[in-house]
Amino acid sequence: MSRTFIVCGNWKMNGDTEQTLDIIKNLTQLPLDPNVEIVLAIPSIYIAYVKTMVPYNVALAAQNCWRTAKGAFTGEISGPMIKDVGAEWVILGPSERRIIFKEDDDLIAAKVEHALESGLKVIACVGENQEQKDAGLTEEVVTKQIKALVPAIGNNWQKVVLAYEPVWAIGTGVSASPQQVQEVHAAIRSWLSTNVNSDVADSVRIQYGGSVTEANATELAACADVDGFLVGSASLKPEFVDIINSSYFI
Ligand code: 13P
Repeated sequence: MSRTFIVCGNWKMNGDTEQTLDIIKNLTQLPLDPNVEIVLAIPSIYIAYVKTMVPYNVALAAQNCWRTAKGAFTGEISGPMIKDVGAEWVILGPSERRIIFKEDDDLIAAKVEHALESGLKVIACVGENQEQKDAGLTEEVVTKQIKALVPAIGNNWQKVVLAYEPVWAIGTGVSASPQQVQEVHAAIRSWLSTNVNSDVADSVRIQYGGSVTEANATELAACADVDGFLVGSASLKPEFVDIINSSYFI
């Protein structure tokens, strides 16, 4: 099964109009591997602005959405709004939403269902924290988070990318090793094969996220079950282009 490599830059709450211009200029001036699907998850307030300047082969994502299309939800944005301003994707369930904003599996599942119903594609994030890792619970935690999403995803697995983001590797400068990443991604596929079906297990793309840099991307990209990256801080730097191109010779 060949799965298209997909690299998403998650700017988180970073970037202003000036920095945005610099990042996009960098992306347009350097050669990008045409075999890689590229997504930028930018602060939603800038989606319409960035849409006017990104190259045709770069899609945009929102970093969150609410669970319904409209209504009295001050400060929230919906799937149809995200589509309306030109983004195709939304990231749901990243650790910051789970930890800081106390989003639980049920809310994340409801958001995933809403996003898919709205015609968006979803990058659904899972990952264990340091304590859970130390207790040997990585597989259990990650598969429980995925299990909660299965009914919400239904038959829409082709519109979903899973992102394995161990909390202990996010923003720490300490990436999981290629062996650790491969082990977890293979375990996810095995769980999907048993609990969803073998087609989904073979075809779903699983990104790795957590301190991905130009220095470790090629080695991580070489793992059999790594189908791309969800990149945080390095996506704001010129090295993001090297991360996009990291699977070129594999
Ligand atoms: P860093 O690449 O900054 O560790 O962030 C990873 C992440 O959370 C991407 O969503």
